[in-house]
Amino acid sequence: MADFQKQTVQWFPGHMAKTRRKIKENLPLVDAVVELVDARIPVSSRNPELDELTSSKPRIILLNKCDVADANATAEWIRYFEASGAFALAVDCKSGKGINRFDDLVREALKDKIQSNIDKGMPGRALRFMVVGIPNTGKSTFINKMSGRNRLKTADRPGVTRTSQWVACGGGIELLDTPGVLWPKFDDPAVGDKLAFIGSVKDEILDSETIAVRLLDVLKEDYADRLTERYKIDASDCQLPSYELLEKIGAARGMKIRGGEVDTERAANTLLDEYRGGKLGRLTFERPGRKS
Ligand code: G4P
Repeated sequence: MADFQKQTVQWFPGHMAKTRRKIKENLPLVDAVVELVDARIPVSSRNPELDELTSSKPRIILLNKCDVADANATAEWIRYFEASGAFALAVDCKSGKGINRFDDLVREALKDKIQSNIDKGMPGRALRFMVVGIPNTGKSTFINKMSGRNRLKTADRPGVTRTSQWVACGGGIELLDTPGVLWPKFDDPAVGDKLAFIGSVKDEILDSETIAVRLLDVLKEDYADRLTERYKIDASDCQLPSYELLEKIGAARGMKIRGGEVDTERAANTLLDEYRGGKLGRLTFERPGRKS
């Protein structure tokens, strides 16, 4: 998998310039851009410059990892992206769920192009796509699933001769075999928090108590019932400031240190591990039209 920590920490203007150049070079070769976003954070997992970079091509947005996102929120996001003129689909690239609808979406997104190919006497001409997204959104998993391949990333190893530029996926669909790795919006700390919630930024570079408190800020608003159920705390505890709520969670689990104080670091790690392990259910941290 892509090592997000490595990629975010080491992203610098040179990387961005290289990605921009690569996208610009490849854009004329494709019919549309497929953007992978994480369905749990459809704003924070998008690159702020992509709209401008690829404005000349139709966009298909795949809300990936919908298996771990809140289904109602995903439906809201699909409507939101469609209203903004993009074509959107909820998928789970790991299992392949939803991928079978990609073909139909492509036919809809590119109906003019398909008609023009027919008019030019080239009805079987392949439809070509560039796959882009920030690290960990599932670009490789998508390309592999579409093509039935297993080890896309080996082609990127230095010294390995690149033989094919296009991955044939059946149904006349071809994907550019190296995804465009974009950068998230670094200047917004809320973006970093959300990437940390979902485990896309390693906890060693962020304090787990801080992340847990920020996670609770969101959970107590939208998913208080999950917290009360899981940690056997009172509904009124969810009205407390988040650090105090974390103490309640730790206390409910008997996480005390000497002197009777709650071990909040342990409580924070437990909360993060349990969320990421799916124990709090499917959650989405961003909603259309709501400020983070
Ligand atoms: P990237 O190319 O965009 O960087 O992402 P990549 O495909 O490497 O996927 C990143 C991680 O996300 C992988 O997990 C992958 O299995 C997981 N993933 C991709 N699509 C989905 C999905 O639809 N649902 C869920 N739940 N996970 C998904 P990993 O932990 O790095 O690897 P592994 O556990 O698969 O070995």
